[in-house]
Parts: sequence; structure tokens; C-alpha cells
Amino acid sequence: GAPVRADFSKLEPGQRMTVEWRGRPVWIINRTPEMNERTENLDPGRLSDPDSNEQQQPSYITGPLRSIRPEIGVMIGICTHLGCSPLYRPEPEAAVTDNWPGGFFCPCHGSYFDLAGRVFRNVPAPTNLEVPPYRFEEDDIIVGE
Ligand code: FES
Repeated sequence: GAPVRADFSKLEPGQRMTVEWRGRPVWIINRTPEMNERTENLDPGRLSDPDSNEQQQPSYITGPLRSIRPEIGVMIGICTHLGCSPLYRPEPEAAVTDNWPGGFFCPCHGSYFDLAGRVFRNVPAPTNLEVPPYRFEEDDIIVGE
């Protein structure tokens, strides 16, 4: 099909927007340096797949932030357990779990993910959130491939 475009020029730091690409919700998150620091400082031992070896992303997406640009996160907003829509909870919250750095919480069965969509251990979701193939066109337009 035709490529899908998303203009995120109005997305403020710390905010998340949802666009629909090929029938699936795709999140675009404008992550602040502070948010990324929390993600990068997370103990990888708390994550199921910290290095994203399970191919939930294109091969050109590498590193703990799982994105092309550090500040712009792009991922499919569908829980990898049974497909619910996780909630955006960008601030650290002890109520989710100890030292949770902020990210996404799935209320259906209590899975949580960091701000890069990496899944924590000991939750029902088996894998990280999926990162779709995409590229940047101009400074603030993302094209889904
Ligand atoms: Fe998200 Fe089950 S669908 S935890």
C-alpha cells in the first residue's frame, strides 16, 4: 500500500500521539533527555529482552532506546500479551512497581514496558512492543514503510 505519513511538529516534549498505520495504532513519543536517561539507566536485568534480540523491530533499530532519533520513539500501541492498549504513564511511579522509570502500563493483566517499549520480567506480555519500519521525511514527518 501507499506509505503512511505522520506530522509530529506539534508534539510537545514528553507527549505522546497516536496515529493509525495500516489499521494499527502507532505511538509517536517525544521523549525528553530526562526520560531517556531514566530508560538508559534502567537495570537490564529487570527486562525480558533488554537488547531486543527477539526481532520486534527492524534491523536498523538498535540500542536501548529502540529508535532512529533518541528523542522520538515510534512503536505499535498493542500489548504483546493479548492485544489490549497499554496506557501512557511517562512518570516514575512506585504504584506500578518499585523504581519503575515510567513507560506503558497494560491494565488488562498488568504488563509494563519502559519508554522504549521494552517489557519487564515477570509480567504476562512475552515480548517488547513492536517497532514498525519507518523513516524520517523532513524534520518532523515520519513515514511508515
Ligand atoms: Fe496486556 Fe494482557 S493484554 S497484559
